This record gives sequence, C-alpha cells and structure tokens, in this order.
Amino acid sequence: MNDMKILMVCLGNICRSPLAEGILRNKILLKATEVKSLRNVIIDSAGTGNWHEGEHPDKRAIQVAKMFGVDISRLIARQFSVNDFNEFDVIFAMDHDNYRNILLLARNPSDKNKVRLLLNADQPDSNRSVPDPYYGGEDGFINVYKLIETSCNAIVKELSKE
Ligand code: 4NP
Repeated sequence: MNDMKILMVCLGNICRSPLAEGILRNKILLKATEVKSLRNVIIDSAGTGNWHEGEHPDKRAIQVAKMFGVDISRLIARQFSVNDFNEFDVIFAMDHDNYRNILLLARNPSDKNKVRLLLNADQPDSNRSVPDPYYGGEDGFINVYKLIETSCNAIVKELSKE
C-alpha cells in the first residue's frame, strides 16, 4: 500500500499543529502493531505564517503534551508551502483562518479537495475551530489538547478501516 500522508496546519506551527502532529503520531504508533494499515501513515505539521520558523514548539504546548505522555519537544516549525499540496494526501486546518489561507494557495480542485477542518474529522460539518491558545494560559492548552485528541481518535478509527 502507498503511504498516507497527513499534514496538520495552524498559524505559527508552535502550538496547535505540533500538538496535532504529536498526538496523532503517538496514537498511530500505539496501534500500528495490531493494525497493518497504520504502518504506512506519515504525519507532519506546518504554519501558514513564518514568524516562528526554525523554533521548537511553545513551552506550554510541550508541557501539556508531556502531561499526556506525548513528546513534541523536538519538532521544528516551518511554513506551509504550495509544494505541500504535492506531498500530502490530506491537509487538516486547525481554524477557519488557516483553512482560508491554505485554500488561497490551492492551484486546482485536487489541491482544494485535500483541505479539511480538523474538528470535522470527529463532528462532520460542524465547522468548528481549534481556538488559538497562544495568548491565554495553560487551561487553554489543555482544552486545545482534548479537542485535537478527539479528532485524532476519529482519524485513527477511519484509517484503521482501510
Ligand atoms: P499556533 O499558535 O498557530 O497554534 O501555533 C500561535 C502561535 C504564534 C502566534 C499566534 C498563534 N503568534 O502570533 O506569534
């Protein structure tokens, strides 16, 4: 089977999308011994903005992930680029701004079809956003972690079917 490549995208690539990358990768690794289709999944993350390029995730994101047993400390931020449409099968946007900005770079209907809102993975057509936790406290990060985790559970379930 070909690799299934999934890209998680937020604004800065230091809070939400590295959490989504780490959470999904962790869940897939835990199930990959029993579910063969999960062994071919590749996950990455990016930001629509470039301000934090080259940085590790925000300390609060690293800390909250660690509380739940997920290590995202070594991830490095990068900006989303048009070439990501060539590389990835599915592109999950954390919020509506990210979604719009990714679609602005789409070159054709095939590119556009790859873009989804992450929370729709768990609640189809709900069109909810993962709130930006950057200017809040740790509570916001825990809330974001749980929202992302629910959708990652749904993604793993879906990928396990194939
Ligand atoms: P993220 O959070 O998009 O979840 O990585 C943010 C990180 C940085 C900024 C905004 C949101 N910022 O304005 O620098």
